[in-house]
Amino acid sequence: MDTRLPGQYSPGLSSPKPEDAAMADADSVKAPKDFQVDVPQKNETFFLKGCEHMEWGMKNRLSKIFNPNTGRTVMLAFDHGYFQGPTTGLERLDLNIAPLTPYADTLMLTRGALRTTMPVTFPGGIVLRSSGGPSILKELSDEEIAVSIEEAVRLNAAAMAVQVFIGGPHETKSVHNMTRLVDLGQRYGIATLAVTAVGRELTRDAKYMGLATRICAELGATYVKTYFVDQGFETVTAGCPVPIVIAGGKKLPELEALTLAYNAVQQGASGVDMGRNIFQSSHPAAMIQAVRKVVHENYQPKEALEFFETLKNETPVGV
Ligand code: 5RP
Repeated sequence: MDTRLPGQYSPGLSSPKPEDAAMADADSVKAPKDFQVDVPQKNETFFLKGCEHMEWGMKNRLSKIFNPNTGRTVMLAFDHGYFQGPTTGLERLDLNIAPLTPYADTLMLTRGALRTTMPVTFPGGIVLRSSGGPSILKELSDEEIAVSIEEAVRLNAAAMAVQVFIGGPHETKSVHNMTRLVDLGQRYGIATLAVTAVGRELTRDAKYMGLATRICAELGATYVKTYFVDQGFETVTAGCPVPIVIAGGKKLPELEALTLAYNAVQQGASGVDMGRNIFQSSHPAAMIQAVRKVVHENYQPKEALEFFETLKNETPVGV
């Protein structure tokens, strides 16, 4: 009886069956193997600051957040509903935000928004809002972890975003939320984005931002989101050993928002996590494309504004 498995060739037993011909090593007329022994194997370095020693899976996910060609990202932030409800520009995520997703490297959003209204074919990184609890009606800094690691894996998250309130009334709790997520994320190769939230009573200057971003990085955040400051922002990025992205903040005229993005990336930020300055623009699709020009192509703010105006004139209001 022939005991060979289908496709298995045993020399000397009997002549090969036709399916054996498909097996590379069974084909005696093939050229000899070439291991190119004189060519050393390439050791590639990873493009993101402070991330060289991460696991392959973590690096792969980070490559979905940050563009490997520029090392920067345009994250579209629209997680505001987790404490603000249907804020202006986010009344209908399916109509306001889904059409913008082709222009975003990364979506920063809640799991509710992701499941209900985002295209499942989105190829970029998903940064999942992973802390929450209080609404705008309460003390905002009293957050808890709001997503399980299994849910983050199930939703194919590239990163989990958590608010960290340095100097706030719940500082230790928010730092602990972050370190818990870092530990869980490390287990599965999912990054943690620490969002340095600034209470009203705290001063938004380079000293505070430097303190907050450095604490987050030292305690394990994969990357950090903070606010741009006019004086000394380059000391904040230099003093933070992991990438920094900036929040857009409240709605500004388009030229000011593009200038903010420009100044931030020129002073060492690895991109923007921008919400209101995109989705509250009269022409959100034109605005996000203009922001891309600044972030990925180093357009000057005025050049990017001209680009915005050109696109804007080609599209109806609200698109
Ligand atoms: C909310 C957030 C937002 O995602 C963040 O503020 C970015 O949005 P915007 O550009 O509108 O400030 O983290 O806590």
